[in-house]
Amino acid sequence: MPQTTAADLKQIVADHWNRRASNFDEGASHGLLNAEQAASWRALMRGLAGDAPLDVLDVGCGTGFLALLAAEAGHRAIGIDMADDMLARARDKAAQRGLAAMFERGDAEAPDFAPGRFDLIVERHVIWTLPDPTRAVKNWFALLRAGGRVALVEGDWDMAPKDEYAAIHSSLPLFGGVPGAELAAFLAAHGFVSVEVTPLMDAALWTETPQHPRYLVVGGRPAHA
Ligand SMILES: C[S@@+](CC[C@H](N)C(=O)[O-])C[C@H]1O[C@@H](n2cnc3c(N)ncnc32)[C@H](O)[C@@H]1O
Repeated sequence: MPQTTAADLKQIVADHWNRRASNFDEGASHGLLNAEQAASWRALMRGLAGDAPLDVLDVGCGTGFLALLAAEAGHRAIGIDMADDMLARARDKAAQRGLAAMFERGDAEAPDFAPGRFDLIVERHVIWTLPDPTRAVKNWFALLRAGGRVALVEGDWDMAPKDEYAAIHSSLPLFGGVPGAELAAFLAAHGFVSVEVTPLMDAALWTETPQHPRYLVVGGRPAHA
């Protein structure tokens, strides 16, 4: 039996999300389904990024959820993803809304940008599906300016592997999510400072009360690093 490489795993993951791209935004945890949900996420982005324009990278951007929120708030946003059909939807949404966010094919584990290029790296629901989250976190650290921050919207879903993930879940170290404190410790172990976890259990964010823990974990690259 030939060995499954990291590239094979990522292709299987991309196949999964390409297959789901056409109706991804219809999910209560994915799109913005009502005005209250939109206002809640806009407030979250404002709290995270502030008002001064930042260089923001959304890794595993999918249909552009966080990158579009950042662009709408006046930041210079780039989203990368490995699933072309998700990226196509992100580009369509940016065009429809007249937003200048850029969307490019790229690997969330190793984004192809110059070191120190970004003030803020964001992701939502991505680290759990990476074959090598350690590599990702090290690269994100390197891509941040001194004093920059990483912000991960994640959860501890305890999900059963299905579809494409049935065959590969055991090769994804954070599959199904982890408690926020564990992800915070993971960031701290890779040099991030002032790491904080904020629960995201407000039903308005998801249009329903979450059944499993959801949270935001933010960590900073030290100002002198
Ligand atoms: C659950 S979706 C989340 C999409 C988006 N962040 C959101 O919150 O709506 C996971 C996304 O991560 C992308 N992804 C998974 N592994 C990736 C990798 N190694 N590089 C880039 N994107 C990746 C998938 O293609 C998919 O679009």
